[in-house]
Parts: sequence; C-alpha cells; structure tokens
Amino acid sequence: MRLSGTARIRVAAALAGVAGLLTMGVTAPARAAAVLPYQDPSLPVATRVADLLGRMTLDDKVGQMMQTERGVTTAADITTYRLGSVLSGGGSAPSPNTPAGWADMYDSYQRGALATPLQIPMLYGIDAVHGNNNVPGSTIFPHNIGLGATRDPALVQRIGRATAEEVTGAGQDWTFAPCLCVARNDRWGRTYESFGEKPELATAMTTVVDGLQGSRLDGPASVLATAKHYIGDGGTTGGVDQGNTQISEAELRAVHLPPFRAAVERGVGSVMLSFSSFDGTKLHAHKYLVTDVLKGELGFTGFVVSDWAAVDQLDGQRGFTQAEIVTAFNAGLDMAMVPADWKAFAGYLRAAVQSGQIPAARVDDANRRILTKKFELGLFEKPYADRSYASTIGSAEHRALARQAVRQSQVLLKRGILPLAKTGGKIFVAGKSADDIGNQSGGWTLSWQGASGNTVPGTSILAGIRAAVGSGTTVTYNRDGTGIDSSYRAAIAVVGETPYAEGEGDRPGSLGLDATDLATLARLRATGVPVVVVLVSGRPLDIASEIGAWNALVAAWLPGTEGGGVADVLFGDYAPTGKLPVTWMQSAAQQPINDGDGKTPLFPYGYGLSYADAPDPTPTPTPTPTPTTPSASCKVRYTTNDWSSGFTGTVALTNTGAAAVNPWTLTWTFGAGQTVTQAWSARVTQSGSAVTATGEAWSASLAPGATVSFGFNGSHSGSNPRPAAFTLNGSPCAAE
Ligand code: GLC
Repeated sequence: MRLSGTARIRVAAALAGVAGLLTMGVTAPARAAAVLPYQDPSLPVATRVADLLGRMTLDDKVGQMMQTERGVTTAADITTYRLGSVLSGGGSAPSPNTPAGWADMYDSYQRGALATPLQIPMLYGIDAVHGNNNVPGSTIFPHNIGLGATRDPALVQRIGRATAEEVTGAGQDWTFAPCLCVARNDRWGRTYESFGEKPELATAMTTVVDGLQGSRLDGPASVLATAKHYIGDGGTTGGVDQGNTQISEAELRAVHLPPFRAAVERGVGSVMLSFSSFDGTKLHAHKYLVTDVLKGELGFTGFVVSDWAAVDQLDGQRGFTQAEIVTAFNAGLDMAMVPADWKAFAGYLRAAVQSGQIPAARVDDANRRILTKKFELGLFEKPYADRSYASTIGSAEHRALARQAVRQSQVLLKRGILPLAKTGGKIFVAGKSADDIGNQSGGWTLSWQGASGNTVPGTSILAGIRAAVGSGTTVTYNRDGTGIDSSYRAAIAVVGETPYAEGEGDRPGSLGLDATDLATLARLRATGVPVVVVLVSGRPLDIASEIGAWNALVAAWLPGTEGGGVADVLFGDYAPTGKLPVTWMQSAAQQPINDGDGKTPLFPYGYGLSYADAPDPTPTPTPTPTPTTPSASCKVRYTTNDWSSGFTGTVALTNTGAAAVNPWTLTWTFGAGQTVTQAWSARVTQSGSAVTATGEAWSASLAPGATVSFGFNGSHSGSNPRPAAFTLNGSPCAAE
C-alpha cells in the first residue's frame, strides 16, 4: 500500500480539531477539516477533475503539461514550476541505484509536488520495456520480438503484471511500454521492440496493458502503461529510425493502427507519439492522426505524451521554438517530454496560452486528461512509493516466469542433432554471447543502449548449459573456440548481435554475422564437430550462406536474464514451440521482406520446428573464408543528438586488433565549449579539452572484435563539431 494521503489529510483535520478544542475548551467535538471536492475520494473522478481544474492557475496548468528529466530537475523545481511529471531517460538512475534509492527519489519529488498550493501529485515515467530494466537485480524478460514468437497473450499479460510489481517496488508509477510498433523492415534498430511484422501479433499482445494497469489503475501494484509510438514508427522507408513512413493511409490503418485501437479498448492510460513522419508530416504535428483519429475515431480518453525532446524536431532546426510548441499542442499533444531547457519551454508554453495561440480549451482538455489518470491511479490518496513490492524485484517467482517465456520464445529453425543428450561425452561451448548476460539482454538494460558484459545478475546461456547437463558430461567453454578438437560430441556457438537501442541499431548495410562470430564458427567447423548455433539477436540476420555448415540453429532473440530457458530447449526439457514473428530473409537485399509480399524467404513468417520434426538432412557445403581483419587496431562510431545548448553523444568502440585490450581507454579532444555532463555504460571524464573514457568494472576488457557502446550528455556553446580523432590506449582508431 502507498502511504495514505488520506491519513495526511486526516492528521491535519485532527490537529485543526485539537487546536479548535484548545481555543474553545474541550466540550466541542473535533470537526473534520474542510475537504475540498477534488480532495474527496467519494466523489466521481470527473467531478474532482472539474473542481480542481477550476482552482488551477495558468502556471498550474502549464506545469501539468510538462515532463522533465530527473538529471535536470530538483524537488524544489517541481514546487516552483508546479511540474506534473518527471522521467528517467534510459540509464538515468539515482545514486544508489537500488529499489530504495529509486523510491527515496520518487518520494522526494512527490513531496515537492505536494508542497504546491493545490498539492497535485506528480507522475514518474520510466522505460520498463522488458521488466524494470532500470534497476539492477530486476527480472529482465525477453524483448518483445521473442514474446511475439511465443504467440501467448496470456503469458505476456503475466509478464506485464510481474513488471508492474517490480516497477511499483522501486517506487515508480508509469512505464513507457508497450511498444506496439509493427516492424516492417528488419534494418530498423527497434525491430526487437516489436512483437512482429503483422498487426495481429501486437494487437494480441496488448494483454500486457491489462497486466501493467490491472483491473483498476488504483489497484495493487497497478502502473500506468503507454502505447507507443503512435503511429507507423515501424514502417519507415528503409527502416530508418525516426524516418518517414511513406505509405497510403489505407495501409497505415491496416497495418499500424489495429494495435493502438486494441490498446485503447483495453483502457491504456497514455499514448506516446512517434518521432517519425507520415508522408512527410511529423507525427508530433499531425492533428488529423492525433486528434481526429486517435482521440476522435478511436475514442482515446487518456493523455498523449511526446517522445524525448521530439517537439524540437518539428522545424528541422536544433532546439525548440514557441511556434513548434504551439503546433504540437494544437495537434493534440497533452504532455511534452522536455529533457533539457525546460524552464525556457515553460515560458514559451505560458506565452503561447496567454497570446491565445494555444486555446484555453486545448489547455483544459490536456489537463483534464492528465488529471483524470492521476485521480484514477489513486495518487491523490496514496501519493508515495509503495515499498511493499520491493520483495518481488528479481524474485524466484518472476525469474521462473521469465524462464518460461524464454523457453516459449525459442524458435527452432534447423533441428540437426537437437535435443542434445544431457549425459556422456564432452560438449564445447563458444561464442561472444555464450557467457555474456549483457548481450543476451540487449538494449534498454541498465542503460539506454545496454552493454556487453556481466551487467546484471542472472543466468547466462553458458551457465544454463552447465546446469542442464549431467555429472557425466564435460562442458568446455572458450569464447572464440580455441581448444576445440574432434573429441567433442557437439559444439554450441552462441553468436549474434551486441546491444543497441533506437537509431544506433539501424543497419543500412550488412545484416550478416560479424567477423568475431564468423571466425569462431570457422574454428569450430574445422574440427568436423557438429555445430549447434544459438543466435542472440534483435532481428533476423543474413545467414543463408552460413547455415548449410551448421548442424542446427535456434533463434534465441534477446532472452534477458534467464538464459536457463535456452538450455531447456537445447537439452529437451522443453520441446520448442516458438514460431517466427518476422519473415527470415534469404539476403539483406530482400529487405523489407514480409509475409505475403511475394518474395521467397529463407524461413517464412510463422515457421518453427518442434522435436516431432525429422532432423534436417542438409549436407555441409564448402566453408566461407574468414574475412581479413582491418589494419587499424580499433574503429569508432560517434553520433550525436543535438539541441539548442546540449547534446547526447553515443560512441561504439570496436577492437579490430587480434588481442584483447584490458583495460581499454579511449581518448579524444573536444573544442571550446564542449563539455561532458553525464555518462552511462562507461566512465567518461574531461580535463580541459581532453576527454577520457574507460570501461565500467564489468566492461574493462575489450576482446578482439568486440564492441563496447557508451553514451553521455554534454553541453556546447553553439557548435558541436565531431572530434577529429580517437585513440585507443594510444593507437589511432579508424572512423566508422
Ligand atoms: C526514447 C524513445 C522512447 C522512450 C523515450 C524516453 O527516445 O523513443 O521509446 O520511451 O525516449 O526514454
């Protein structure tokens, strides 16, 4: 139970009564303090909203229409500016990053909100997109693409409930999930956040909304859910993240709208707009789709929230303007996510209302929608963190549920010698993702981009394999396959992609395995030992030229912390039932490739073998030559997302040398005015113009071929040029 706000009001009443008694003598009975209508939970929500709205000043209303980032917001700011919501961007966590640390932070912000004249509670938003991935120790469930492979809406609802409990236990009350994106091009870096390529999959899986929100928003452990990103984010040309969805309205309605209709019918409390455009018009400026279709035709009565600083993008220039703010709110936006410069944003918004550019009726409609959800959540009565659910975080029950989801999400694409016998002989395990819980969890894990390494507590796929085999079996592990010989009865190669999120994961070029994986596979195959490949990836990969040399293949997707579920399938404790949620290409040149488009895939949508199917008789063709390693000992991909005076920088550093680099230190030089302010997934320091990045404890070493990604926020004084050069432990890196 949250600490009861009613108790707070009753205490005041009692004190008032006592005070009255003291002045009036002890004969008069204690009078209940006057409770204003909006503070009276016995009244209908609509009545409470109307009463409260009538008491609000323009500053109150402007504050409710803004959500600011925790790194640039204090509890006092909430009081002063009457802010209605705070968020954590990916990886933005309190210190200590513990459930209690989060709940303390939440309560601190809430006290700031309750210190305002009208005491309107705030909402705290986070991306709990596969479990409460912000908090170490949380259960990390398979990403949505794996859940799509289960074809099990009831399971997904249970995952929603478990996630709601772990989110509540850490004190938060709003998650920016589920992504109801329909991924139509596997090049898109957010393909794994989609349940699959067909609208009926995401539509079926909107059961997760019921799990998250419960039967009542003020029910035990219920949290506000978010249907995102409205609309067409998965249908952009070329699969470009935040790109342009150039299809007919009929196709938009047929492919991308059904999941949102289903979520609205389930009472989803918020909808997040997409960065992308529909036919050249930004969704954040699209009045027809937001107001007429979502709110009018679909009857959505919750509130619409923007994506991260998305209003800034409307005019194609850095930063936001009053005109952009007017456009977005008049299109139907109700709450803007403003990660920086939010005081300037508040000033523009206030001025736009005062000048009539944003009609008062629009302002009241936005506030009415937001306040309605706050009342329905019970925040006015129970505003503080409910820490009683902290015990559910990473609980055995939740991990067992996650393991079941992992089992059901595995898709058997080539059977070969599977299932493996548990006892006898020797099994060799290799691959960069065999003993890497960061890789098997993917993006949005502890940080925005996620990271390779032993990032969160859980069970790696290797640990799952070791636990599955009998005492009579020897399991040997070597990351790149060194040491294997023909004495092993099988080799298991766990390969695929390293973590990424959003546009950082877009792959406009090759969709094949990287050099590290190809070298490992070649080393294993050279011995003639049957190779079972487990593919840990956020999407189908271009493997047609390789699969002939593989004895078996399981698509594991991004299973999360419970790698034991993969071993359950490999050793037959669970016969595979997963079905492809996306069509599997013959080659990257086929992208986009989707069911019914007339192209011939390697494996069709819905494909998935079971152990009742005969082993595959495919012969072993000639091995593919291993590509040569590029000359530079490292390469760096450096990208930024800029706004008026700040930016988010993302670095992907790859060790292209033949030896591990431990510890790794990447350095570069910033120009005048460029300053790092906050970093994640690495330690980034700056002295003068010299910037130094080193790995966290769990990512200090960079193996040959491995890539480490990290990010940081920074400020600039007008220009934000890319650094001229990067060096890794003193040697120059190639630019990617
Ligand atoms: C990101 C994502 C969105 C997320 C939001 C807050 O840019 O597009 O999915 O919920 O910002 O982190």
